[in-house]
Amino acid sequence: MTTRSNIRDGRSTSHTVAVIGAGYVGLPTAATLSHFGHRVVLAERDEVRLAALRSGQMPIVESGLDDLVAESVLAGNLKFTASATEAVLEAEFVFLCVPTPQSDDGSADLSFVEAAAKEVGQLLMPGAIVVNKSTVPVGSATMVEEVIGRPDIRVVSNPEFLREGSAVQDSLHPDRLVVGADDAQAAAMVGSLFAATGAPLIITDATTSETIKYASNAFLATKLSYVNAVAGLCEEVGADVRDVMLGLGYDKRIGFEFLRPGPGWGGSCLPKDTRALLHIAREAGYDFSLLAGAIASNEQQLARVVAKVETACGGSVDGIKVAVWGLTFKANTDDRRDSPSLEIAHRLSALGAVVQAFDPTVSGGLSEDPDNVPNDLRGLHLCADPYEAATGAAVVVVLTEWDEFRWVDFTRVATSMSVPSIVDARNLLDPAAVRRMGFTYDGIGRR
Ligand code: UDX
Repeated sequence: MTTRSNIRDGRSTSHTVAVIGAGYVGLPTAATLSHFGHRVVLAERDEVRLAALRSGQMPIVESGLDDLVAESVLAGNLKFTASATEAVLEAEFVFLCVPTPQSDDGSADLSFVEAAAKEVGQLLMPGAIVVNKSTVPVGSATMVEEVIGRPDIRVVSNPEFLREGSAVQDSLHPDRLVVGADDAQAAAMVGSLFAATGAPLIITDATTSETIKYASNAFLATKLSYVNAVAGLCEEVGADVRDVMLGLGYDKRIGFEFLRPGPGWGGSCLPKDTRALLHIAREAGYDFSLLAGAIASNEQQLARVVAKVETACGGSVDGIKVAVWGLTFKANTDDRRDSPSLEIAHRLSALGAVVQAFDPTVSGGLSEDPDNVPNDLRGLHLCADPYEAATGAAVVVVLTEWDEFRWVDFTRVATSMSVPSIVDARNLLDPAAVRRMGFTYDGIGRR
């Protein structure tokens, strides 16, 4: 049995943990911690999501997550509950993994974090440690401590760096662990929960830990804006961006990750975290013009791709059928939040195009049943496969890098289109191969 004394000295290798929120962060976190042998109770108040979990269905598309969850449930290390208060009763560590939506000015809405802290605060075991895993503004650890208002409860920042689509892999084998608290012992104890990862552990204060998360994602976004801008330059000077990136990537100080040009960066983190960091800088009176430039450059990238599609259609898409392949913000996820692909599809639609869209995670034919169409997909004609999307279209626009798009029968696609033309916003296809099949081809930063 866990006692207060071994909470304090961290000697016990198996701990009791509550995770509040079974979303993109909470679910992989709960699965990982239970896989490491900790006894985890995961609280999820959305009934549909909870029922799915209890029946072994994963509410998010995430490779390997179902097996990891099933294994921990079978071992008795992972339990689900609808009640956060029930989850925390015996927990030495309580991970807050609730959403932190963003308002227009980039500031974070912390009401879910605050509500969760209020809800569980008085029920926490003496000496329990609360962990902020959601991405939260600088100063949030202190805010949560104040909301709980108990001198025996310490709050630790432990930002999550997992990528959607490889969340399991990233959680089991993180590049690093960051934990921050004003109480270094509490931070070290949170770090020890993840000892099995063998990852480098950075122990710092809460403010620094919270800043690391934003600085990391803002750096990645800036790197991508740079790559996309270089791709634009390559088009003007006649260089091939893929070889340029090869030349950059072999420099160990740059590395090969995050060098693929695309339609712009998106998803639930990069856009949100860059805006948040800009907001934090503005509030602090710091002029972070480099970051503002990276955000503006991403906006230009979306516009550049739309312009490419217009050019492929002879100058205007008005009244023209356009096939869109891919709607999620990247491959191997069903997430369309802040998706550049979806944004481009809607911009084309707003310019008068008849957008025939296919994505492997979206059911074709949904648009025939308007009551069932999710809001963000309204206005698009949703197709069952890439061929249906291409039928009668003047251009195919590859917007998400789903591997299956490489293996499409392009001869069949060409014959079904009004004009065989491709705008490849992910540089997924082999230009020479599709040109041989009669397509005109335009990629990003290559000919
Ligand atoms: C990101 C961070 O990588 C992760 O550490 C974090 O904490 C959560 O946010 P995620 O949003 O899942 O992860 O996606 P990621 O793989 O980082 O991609 C972000 C965006 O960049 C996507 O739109 C993707 O398509 C784009 N991208 C990525 C490129 O355009 N080119 C690349 O080379 C890599």
